Amino acid sequence: MSETNQAFDHSLVFNPSPEVIARARIKDWDAVKAAADADPQKYWAECASELDWYQTWNQVLDDSKKPFFKWFVGGKTNIVQNAVDRHAESARRNKLAYIWQGEDGSERFMSYGELAHDVNKFANVLKGLGVNRGDRVTIYMGRVLELPIAMLACAKIGAIHSVVYGGFSVDALRGRIQDSQSKVVVTCDGAYVSGKHIDLKDIVDAALYTDPPTPVKDVVVYKRTGKEVRMFNEENRRDHWWHEAMNAASSVCETEVMDAEDPLFILYTSGSTGKPKALLHTHGGYSVYTYATFRAVFDVQEDDRYWCAADPGWITGHSYIVYAPLMNGVTSVVYEGGPSYPAPDRWWSIVAKYRVSILYTAPTAIRGLMRFGADWPKKHDLSSLRLLGSVGEPINPEAWRWFYENIGNSRCPIMDTWWQTETGGFMITPTPVVPLKPGSGTRPFFTIKAEIVDDQGNAVPPESEGYLTILQPWPGMARTIYGDDQRYADTYWSRFPGRYFTGDSARMDKDGYYWIIGRVDDVLKVSGYRFGTAELESALVAHPAVAEAAVIGLPHEVRGNAIYGYVLLRTGHKDSPELREALRNHVAKMVGPIAKPEKVEVVDRLPKTRSGKIMRRLLKARAQGLPEGDISTLEE
Ligand code: WT7
Repeated sequence: MSETNQAFDHSLVFNPSPEVIARARIKDWDAVKAAADADPQKYWAECASELDWYQTWNQVLDDSKKPFFKWFVGGKTNIVQNAVDRHAESARRNKLAYIWQGEDGSERFMSYGELAHDVNKFANVLKGLGVNRGDRVTIYMGRVLELPIAMLACAKIGAIHSVVYGGFSVDALRGRIQDSQSKVVVTCDGAYVSGKHIDLKDIVDAALYTDPPTPVKDVVVYKRTGKEVRMFNEENRRDHWWHEAMNAASSVCETEVMDAEDPLFILYTSGSTGKPKALLHTHGGYSVYTYATFRAVFDVQEDDRYWCAADPGWITGHSYIVYAPLMNGVTSVVYEGGPSYPAPDRWWSIVAKYRVSILYTAPTAIRGLMRFGADWPKKHDLSSLRLLGSVGEPINPEAWRWFYENIGNSRCPIMDTWWQTETGGFMITPTPVVPLKPGSGTRPFFTIKAEIVDDQGNAVPPESEGYLTILQPWPGMARTIYGDDQRYADTYWSRFPGRYFTGDSARMDKDGYYWIIGRVDDVLKVSGYRFGTAELESALVAHPAVAEAAVIGLPHEVRGNAIYGYVLLRTGHKDSPELREALRNHVAKMVGPIAKPEKVEVVDRLPKTRSGKIMRRLLKARAQGLPEGDISTLEE
């Protein structure tokens, strides 16, 4: 585990202002926390009753088959009923669901009524392609509104969406299509990001050109950029233009009645070993959890304009761009492109133009924008902001201060939300009235029982570092790894029997505030993105010159961590700057541009334990010139 980060000051407190308290829906956090913790099932049942159900549950929690928990057993719902249908049938019909800004400056305004109309049509398009309840659909798109529309259309008919982030490349996409056995892929001709054109359709074509073939028979292509693409029309593969299919589809579609525990989506994320795993979330518990956490933490009101600057392709986007904001009936801003394109004030111009009141982003983005200086935000009227948010990795106090002072004008509390793909929603997070400590997600959310433990699973005293575990189930938890229950149980519930193991190390201070230190498994957070060392190493080893590889993360000022690769070459290959460059590009090509290593080094040997495991910890210490620690297991 790592050393204390001295930059974090556990005694520095920012109290909420009287204005913040006056506006907050939850004024007495401690009272709500105490009541919720005393009876978690009652708390969640109350949250659930704020949503529509076709049939009420008869049991809030079934924990008879641990760790396979069930929530709202017997309940019938569909997340789309709560996210779209109920608004489209109410006075919110003409309220904006989304304001969209393209990187090229184009704009779209989409009401809840229009959203419902498009979701219905696309649901019928999918049905027309033979997509049924339980079938998987891979969505690989840029940041256009058709991405949430496609997700919602899947959910509406009971199909399982699998969104693959548009920054992933051919092999990563193909692996996810194969693993999920998707029937249909929904994509765009291309996407604009930071002035570049991403050839999404070409990447899909390359991913599907493989042996054994994928089960994909149909590809739907939304025309965003107008780039010329090849449209297949063959026996085993048909491509359809989104707009043509939509024109032909009916706008009337019944929402499928789903069991609370029926799957809603799978989402791939990296773990310490093997290939990325598909976490599965459900219609019932996930709805309740994301709806309620969002409502409490961002304290949304009718007049809010909310902007989560993440990508819908990650869990942040699933939960807090698509499902929770829509269930809460708020207006969200979606921006297609890069944060500093064409100039470093692009984001601030968007906040000013649409009068954004809540801005939720990641430390890496803040650090990136911070580099350009405070004159850029100063050029814009940011007075509409009332709350800020952060997610993805610990926010360093320097970035916290910059965000707080220059963007929030020292008025807007920062909701630092700790959670994971696996948790579905916020786990350790303040609400607006909670006193803040820069760099801490404050305390566990209502009903969440966290504990920091040592190797043996015993709680450690305050201020000591240990493994972050969660003691009780919560409705938003992933139910399993799709198709691999055993791996789910092993990965999350076996390290500390009976508890959920997060993979993070943390400290709790004397006030009960949690300070996340970082991953203790072989997972790297790079610019907030999650990679397994195993997948990066296997990308390196897939190169003909490489015999063996080890990957570590080293601290990076903007990205949090940067990827460093160490390789042993096969005989007949020689170290050269060209080869090292080729290896970096090879990883970018196989996994995605965001996974491009900062540096690849050629070495004669890798430090290993006698049982043959690479000692990444030692590589890391050596690279940073730090003490090597315990090397008794080293075989050299
Ligand atoms: C890992 C989960 C959940 C949305 C995005 C990430 C790190 C996440 C914080 C935070 C410190 C954080 C943890 C966690 N992390 N949020 N506020 N403070 N660390 O989801 O890709 O599944 O990654 O991100 O290490 O385990 P993810």
